[in-house]
Amino acid sequence: MKISPEILNLVPYKPGKPISETQREYGLTTVYKLASNENPLGPSPKAMDAVKRALDHQNLYPDPSHYELLHTISKQWGFPTKQLAIGNGSDELIDLLTRIFCEPKEGVLTSVAAFNAYEVSAAANRAAIRKVPLTEGYRFDLEAIADYFFAHPEQNIRLIFVSNPNNPTGTYASKQEVEGFLARLGNRDDVMIVFDEAYNEFVRAEDYASAQNYINKFNNLIVLRTFSKIYGLAGFRIGAMIAPEAVVEVFNRVRKPFNVNDLAQVAANAALQDKEFLQRSQQICWKGLDYFYKKLEELGLPYIHSQGNFVMFDTLRDAVKVNEALLRRGIIMRPVLNYGFKTHMRLSVGLEHENEAALVALKEVLKEIPVLAGTPIPTV
Ligand SMILES: Cc1ncc(COP(=O)(O)O)c(C=O)c1O
Repeated sequence: MKISPEILNLVPYKPGKPISETQREYGLTTVYKLASNENPLGPSPKAMDAVKRALDHQNLYPDPSHYELLHTISKQWGFPTKQLAIGNGSDELIDLLTRIFCEPKEGVLTSVAAFNAYEVSAAANRAAIRKVPLTEGYRFDLEAIADYFFAHPEQNIRLIFVSNPNNPTGTYASKQEVEGFLARLGNRDDVMIVFDEAYNEFVRAEDYASAQNYINKFNNLIVLRTFSKIYGLAGFRIGAMIAPEAVVEVFNRVRKPFNVNDLAQVAANAALQDKEFLQRSQQICWKGLDYFYKKLEELGLPYIHSQGNFVMFDTLRDAVKVNEALLRRGIIMRPVLNYGFKTHMRLSVGLEHENEAALVALKEVLKEIPVLAGTPIPTV
């Protein structure tokens, strides 16, 4: 069997541990999962009603043109349908963009500790991933990313991914930084710039600007959004792309005709119209984050202010041991060793009683496990 080295070197993705598996392994009945940045409220009630109504025609193939959903998105986000595309989660969008824009050995550029899917998609598509170090404060260094691009013409960098806000760090790039970055790299015909805004709706920072504001100024700018987070539809697998018409046109040639199932389309369409649910989801997130900050301060653990629905914090201990001890207490958080952080954990906002249970368990675990030095900011 001959397998390409890029694929062989791939490390399998380690998702948040499922609740059922944790119950089985640890013999627990109550388990809280705060590990995958999901919406703790469940899907929007409007989405659930729409899905129930749609069940009776699931003998039919889904609409391959995503007509209704595209028109709802168009109305709500203010872009013509020709500038919109739908994917099987933003994961699929990331993967297909890599396939479309990178020839084998060409470069995909991002930051250290950027969302892991960029690296996996690069490898799966035989492209080379390049990463620029974070700045102080665990932030993307957009200036250094642009500098890297210009300093390495031999790497043929064709795609740049910026997750804004980023997962797992929760940090963001400001309006000024985004504008400076686009001023340097926008409107080039040799590189596409992708802003992944999966957590867009959770941002509270006043100096944040969605890259959507600049879509029509730059012909090499793409923005990705997802229905997995604030819309509460992670299980349905559906994400959206806003891009120049030419990119959408090519994307629609490459994607599978039935890439997004009917229930996902119906659910997303209804969820987009459930403003009350969106506001409730934001409030739950912000209240939860403020609670986490207060408690982490009381525990003396450094944390990074987050613009997502999760917080990354430093346990100052071996995160593998912390994780194991939390699992024994029925709390699933996410260690972030795969991003180079050996003492950090990422904690997603849950419902109030879940957040409280997580912090009670964490407090106990901290007493059990000896302190280590905190992880320095990783460089690879
Ligand atoms: C930054 C970022 N982008 C994209 C995604 C993937 O979203 P989807 O569920 O739409 O594939 C995630 C999921 O965690 C994420 O954190």
